[in-house]
Amino acid sequence: MLIFKSVQETQSVCAQLRREGRILGFVPTMGALHEGHLSLVRAAKAECDVVAVSIFVNPTQFGPNEDFAKYPRSFEQDCTLLEAEGAHLVFAPAAEEMYPAGTSTFVHVEGVSERLDGASRPGHFRGVATVVSKLFHIVCPHKAYFGQKDAAQVAVLRKMARDLNFPAQIVVCPIVREPDGLAMSSRNRYLSPEERRQALVLSRSLKRVEELAACGEMSSRKLTAAAREVLAAEPSVRIDYITAVDPDTLEEIDEVSSGTLFAVAAFVGSTRLIDNTILKA
Ligand code: PAJ
Repeated sequence: MLIFKSVQETQSVCAQLRREGRILGFVPTMGALHEGHLSLVRAAKAECDVVAVSIFVNPTQFGPNEDFAKYPRSFEQDCTLLEAEGAHLVFAPAAEEMYPAGTSTFVHVEGVSERLDGASRPGHFRGVATVVSKLFHIVCPHKAYFGQKDAAQVAVLRKMARDLNFPAQIVVCPIVREPDGLAMSSRNRYLSPEERRQALVLSRSLKRVEELAACGEMSSRKLTAAAREVLAAEPSVRIDYITAVDPDTLEEIDEVSSGTLFAVAAFVGSTRLIDNTILKA
């Protein structure tokens, strides 16, 4: 497995692979890899000739009071996991390599970036769109793999790829969960055992919504109220948002239908967790 820290080296090796006619799959990550990330690598392996993974804790997508400094970093272990999965190339630049002094160009996907997590985390999706567009220019993948876990990120990046004519096909993979339902996240390792237990209300609230929708409940207001009721079982879990939206525009809708995105974000202690489901109604 090749490990590169330089933009230029990565760019020339990826360009060479494309010239040789290889189908290039790309999985962007911030490291601290878990089964969720590895599921994307496996999907890429199944569909592409070569799999490149980036590991970069992107400073521009963290707010001033967020967890950039303490975000988990486990580079050696990440490389061992990626090697075992058969990834071919890891791109792990330093912050100065991605953002040399004087960098002043950013990508802002208007509208969709201000909804859901974008409403709670101003500037977050500007940072995500900027780094992913830079990574796309460096790797030039045929296919790029993202997790449904970050549903708002998917909406932003799909729109970005369309608006800016990136040739990469965006592939979205299902949410990988712990056996008890908790959506896997690098941030789960911040949780104390008690918080880890409390965090289960997120997936439980979504299960309730899925059940009600399967029984024909179409009112967003009623589904949201039912989800809030489940979340209220853990009074120390503080809801950030809980809402039914169009998965592409992230605009709220009154009546759910098949394909509606039902998404939740909540603070468990000081850790902000997200989860969602696409309704089959
Ligand atoms: P990160 O949080 O490391 O996630 C990398 C990719 O793994 C994302 O596409 C995310 O949706 C996916 N992922 C995380 N947990 C998952 C789970 N439980 N099931 C399925 N997929 C999961 O998302 C980012 O990094 C960054 O914003 C990034 C796109 C790399 C830009 O910096």
